[in-house]
Amino acid sequence: MEIKQSPIFHDFEKGLKSKWMEVSEKRYKDAKSFYESVNEDLPDDTLMYRVTCVNDPEAVEGHLNWGISMLEPVYVNGECNMTRGHFHSDLNCQEYYWCAKGHGLLMLMDEEGSCWCEEMVPGSLHKIDGHHAHRLINTSDERLEVICVWNSNAGHDYGRVEKMPFPVCVYKENGKIVFKERGKQE
Ligand SMILES: [Fe+2]
Repeated sequence: MEIKQSPIFHDFEKGLKSKWMEVSEKRYKDAKSFYESVNEDLPDDTLMYRVTCVNDPEAVEGHLNWGISMLEPVYVNGECNMTRGHFHSDLNCQEYYWCAKGHGLLMLMDEEGSCWCEEMVPGSLHKIDGHHAHRLINTSDERLEVICVWNSNAGHDYGRVEKMPFPVCVYKENGKIVFKERGKQE
């Protein structure tokens, strides 16, 4: 029997490698609206996070995508680096997040706006309900790396989170995580 090599490889250290791989990067200039305040000293081209993924070309029910999100240890006036956050366009579509490296939080929000977090440590596995918005937050001083598996037809509904933002902001003050209600900072 012929033994073939898989066209996708995910090295534990070097990450994902495939001819089908797509890469996207979020720089500070495109992430300013996520934060409570603007840090004028943080260069616009600061890398906030990078996502590499293998998306199924068909994006139909039953097909899966695989990716890894890597969040840099960056703070914006003390507020922890985070992803934009989204609901899925198809609320039936769940997602797995698996923390590979670093420490952080998975922030979740239901459709009524109630919000909570799950702690992310290397090895923690998070099954995300399709009806819950989700956002990654790096609370550490090293890169947070999270492997993601989701339905290729899930879609990303960013607009819904912009209309109803996550109500809690996560800061690091004197080495401790501090939660603050959005829009209530002195
Ligand atoms: Fe998602």
